[in-house]
Amino acid sequence: MIQIENATKTFGQGDSAFTALRDVSVDIAANEFFTLLGPSGCGKTTLLRLIAGFEPPTKGAILLSGSDISRLPPNQRPVNTVFQNYALFPHMSVAQNIAFGLEMLGKPKAEIAKTVDEMLRLVRMEELKDRRTSEISGGQQQRVALARALAPHPQVLLLDEPLSALDLKLRKEMQIELKRLQSETGITFVFVTHDQEEALTMSDRVAVMNAGRILQVGSPRDIYERPSERFVANFIGESNFLDAERIGGDVTLAAGGSFAAAVPEGVPEGKVSVLIRPEHIRVRGGQPEAGELSAKVETVVYSGDATTLHLRLATGEVLKARMANAPDSDAAVPAEGQDAAVSIAPGAVTVLRD
Ligand SMILES: Nc1ncnc2c1ncn2[C@@H]1O[C@H](COP(=O)(O)OP(=O)(O)OP(=O)(O)O)[C@@H](O)[C@H]1O
Ligand SMILES: [Mg+2]
Repeated sequence: MIQIENATKTFGQGDSAFTALRDVSVDIAANEFFTLLGPSGCGKTTLLRLIAGFEPPTKGAILLSGSDISRLPPNQRPVNTVFQNYALFPHMSVAQNIAFGLEMLGKPKAEIAKTVDEMLRLVRMEELKDRRTSEISGGQQQRVALARALAPHPQVLLLDEPLSALDLKLRKEMQIELKRLQSETGITFVFVTHDQEEALTMSDRVAVMNAGRILQVGSPRDIYERPSERFVANFIGESNFLDAERIGGDVTLAAGGSFAAAVPEGVPEGKVSVLIRPEHIRVRGGQPEAGELSAKVETVVYSGDATTLHLRLATGEVLKARMANAPDSDAAVPAEGQDAAVSIAPGAVTVLRD
């Protein structure tokens, strides 16, 4: 539905020119919950502003359902935006805020009233409809901002870190609400966040960005379990990076043991860096048997649902292992200072492009 073709955005000119997006290409499907994930300053808001039409691309094109909209002003695009600060009108009521965009479009009164009621129901704000938006909570303001953006029935909704001002509990609730709203309305969502957990739990697909580029696009499972490069692996979840030697699809760790590994395109044979997630590692006290690595337990940290061990391998490399806790699992966890045998789950080794 949305195609971004080789979009580059440069701000300023000459010595003060700054390129915020470099040759970004991505296709976003209709009805998709698509997330742009990356650190501060990587270009997420800039890309949203290009889609919304607040900025033209310096090079490249933005297409909507096949037609080039790169030069179309924002109000002529079937796209709406929820800004990070919500930008509500504080002196107006909840209902007036939601009606505002529809009045601007010159919709008939009866139709506006009907849509406002529908939106109030959708975001569960019927009871507060006459309250001023300066007199409601942050989470409620968030829902009004959403309702206002959804009211004109845009084909695409752009959401720029809409949950970042909320506390953790409310944020979790709103994540579920947003998912519900997206599937009920069938609107394509392009959601921006720098929170990797939020991206993984909410999205159909995620684009991981850094320094003005999209590094990888995939399902949450793809980018978590099969990151193509070190930046992506490091940015998402906890990671172990180990030295290894690759021949074809087989990898031999410097610390010992050979594994079949996933290999992204463009990685040469020979010395490589591999990723192993901490929860894909099993540890037991004692000496290694065939297929296990030998290690010494350096620290054991209990954190409720799991226990994290730092293990020193024969190469001097440190390996983090995360074991889920169960009522009877305490006895299975080796103690600090003990020798341990480490096994790695089949399929857990991923070769990274550096
Ligand atoms: N109008 C502008 N003029 C010059 N530089 C800009 C302008 N807008 C953005 N930039 C720069 O472009 C880069 C990307 O900015 P952008 O706002 O897209 O980042 P972001 O990924 O949204 O970051 P954050 O997570 O902090 O919101 C930043 O380095 C920023 O300083
Ligand atoms: Mg931003």
